[in-house]
Amino acid sequence: KIIILDFGSQTTQLIARRIREQKVYSEIHPFSISLDKIKELKPSGIVLSGGPCSVYDADAPHSDPGIFELDIPVLGICYGAQLMLQQMGGKVEKAEKREFGKAELTIHYTAGLFAGLETDKPIHQVWMSHGDRVEEIPEGFAVTATSVNSPNAALRHKTKPFVAVQFHPEVAHTVIGNDVLRNFIFGICNCSPEWTMHSFIEQNVRAIKKKVGSDKVICALSGGVDSSVVAAIIHRAIGDQLTCIYVNNGLMRTGESESIMRFFKEKTKLKLIDINATDFFLGELDGVEDPEVKRKRIGLGFIKIFEEEAGKIGGVKYLAQGTLYPDVIESVSFRGEAPIKSHHNVGGLPEVMQLDLIEPLRELFKDEVRELGLELGLPEEAIYRQPFPGPGLGIRIMGEVTAERLNILRQSDVIVLEEMRRAGWYRKVWQSFAVLLPIQTVGVMGDGRTYEHVIAIRSVDSRDAMTADWSKLPYEILGEISSRIINEVRGVNRVVYDISSKPPATIEWE
Ligand code: XMP
Repeated sequence: KIIILDFGSQTTQLIARRIREQKVYSEIHPFSISLDKIKELKPSGIVLSGGPCSVYDADAPHSDPGIFELDIPVLGICYGAQLMLQQMGGKVEKAEKREFGKAELTIHYTAGLFAGLETDKPIHQVWMSHGDRVEEIPEGFAVTATSVNSPNAALRHKTKPFVAVQFHPEVAHTVIGNDVLRNFIFGICNCSPEWTMHSFIEQNVRAIKKKVGSDKVICALSGGVDSSVVAAIIHRAIGDQLTCIYVNNGLMRTGESESIMRFFKEKTKLKLIDINATDFFLGELDGVEDPEVKRKRIGLGFIKIFEEEAGKIGGVKYLAQGTLYPDVIESVSFRGEAPIKSHHNVGGLPEVMQLDLIEPLRELFKDEVRELGLELGLPEEAIYRQPFPGPGLGIRIMGEVTAERLNILRQSDVIVLEEMRRAGWYRKVWQSFAVLLPIQTVGVMGDGRTYEHVIAIRSVDSRDAMTADWSKLPYEILGEISSRIINEVRGVNRVVYDISSKPPATIEWE
């Protein structure tokens, strides 16, 4: 495996993904990881990520320079490169000119990182983003590539397996990025491409069996891809020792979960308890308008029902959860963010019920979970389903949630999804949905005045939901959605499109 030490770059996760795409396992650790821990991990290579600081700042994050004595290959990227060179005796200073964006790289050395690439012409487009540069090269190092503003754009140690690049090989704009990473992991670290979803399943099935023994496990099935994949892999490991509980909170989309439930009931032998708690949840939400109160009530209601059902099963020791890798990565301190909304999945349950957790997806990114789902035989339609929040339509109805308002939103939402699918856009965007606003506006229908609800359409592009941009949907799709909603959904006379990005807006409206 390759480990990545994180110095706070926006693209640290991308490094891990790019390496995994080469079928080599990689994981991210904080820059402050101890030497002993690194030795314990036995990595075949170490990558030092980029980061927002300057290596010469008093409080700049430094990893233990002892990593250069471990006989393990090291690749430094941007900040990581500067840190490596500084720790080995070089000098880094503020550059006269910041270099940001695309640059042309000239390679002078075609072994090591640049094996197989063309030399001596400024032809390789790379992505740069730095305000400092290496002014003095430490002893033992030689320059392997240059750009106009970076005479030391890439370096190698002449006798040891240490390489450094000022540019970012992990971003798509660096055309030779994959070549560089491949040369590092296969050429310099001697890894072999063995990390596949097939091997992942085998390993995990074994590990789950061992951990669980003859105990019982429960899992909250939501209809989304993560919990479906969790259920499928655990079921493969321990069969009927797993019970899945599906709680219908009455805030689901039309047909959203039914199709997955049908799949699990018809196509698998999964033990599944299906609870309809619509009335309970609508009761809990009666008269509630505040978004945080809504979220809390829905979350607590879920815990209550889940706990009751689990109590009936008896003797449960584990709770299975679909935690993904981005939630696990220990973020380095200068990136600590306060929670903006209290997200609900099954948070709170393990403490309340004193259950241990099983989180088979902890090491995976979303796209890897999808791959895993396919390998486990889940239907494509389930795997490529857009994310849907735990509190469901409850946080897409501004103001009070009532059966009548849910009905209006559901009908509008079906139309959004139908039209997105029909136009071939459903999978192109991260999420697309309708939101019911708490206001009414004036319209004219036939000869009469109307005074009815407004539906907002939200569609966003995103990689991981941390940031998002509004989708540039063709006007034709928006037009079709609008006229269908206004014509087909009683009580709506106006449709608007949300053109805010995240940040500063969020994806959901509440
Ligand atoms: P926001 O609105 O915070 O949403 O930009 C980011 C992503 O998270 C989803 N979301 C949730 N998912 N429980 C969930 O499981 C929640 O409470 C929750 N709230 C938001 C949202 O749909 C988007 O994909």
